[in-house]
Amino acid sequence: MSQSESSTTPKSPAVGVLCSGGGSNLQVLIDRARTGELGGRIAWVVSNNGSAFALERARQAGIEAVHASAKSLGSPEAVESKLLELIERDQVQVLVLAGYMKALPESVLRRLPGRVVNIHPALLPAFGGKGMNGHHVHEAVIARGAQWTGVTIHLVTENYDEGPILRQRVVAVRPDDTPETLGTRVLAIEHDTLWREVRALLERA
Ligand code: GRF
Repeated sequence: MSQSESSTTPKSPAVGVLCSGGGSNLQVLIDRARTGELGGRIAWVVSNNGSAFALERARQAGIEAVHASAKSLGSPEAVESKLLELIERDQVQVLVLAGYMKALPESVLRRLPGRVVNIHPALLPAFGGKGMNGHHVHEAVIARGAQWTGVTIHLVTENYDEGPILRQRVVAVRPDDTPETLGTRVLAIEHDTLWREVRALLERA
């Protein structure tokens, strides 16, 4: 079944995805939505970064791809309105932050309490917070000599990286790891984890 066919299924709950970069986690969500395993459809993908490959992945899958930044839309308030409008229009049940580098407006969090989920490439509360994104996380893990890292899926609250944890999976740090080798193993676990938690949230929505 194609994405557009599945989007006409009345019982398929809508998922919105926010991305800033490559969108490999988004791709897994798209693929699992197509097979029906996600239990929902990707209604749209929004990025604050107009050249994010995530937007291209969405277009290739026939999914609405929206560039929404304060610069492209004129103000932070316009981004907030756009997000609320898209959530309302499609009656989005779950909002996924899949590598989204911007803070979400509180109005969006209030609109979807307990249904906004983020993925972080470490075991929160360790290696989280300001500046802890992308390769910086894996660099910090190795520099500190941590022997374990992993993946955290958590609900998003106003406090960055501090929302209730839904799921964690552990990855061993090897003595010869570089940030790249470690990041590759962590990302593979991310790909196997995020969609399952989104499915679980959709089942409860
Ligand atoms: C992932 O490592 C995720 O944990 C973090 O940003 C990265 C996004 O990767 N929040 P991708 O864009 O899904 O490839």
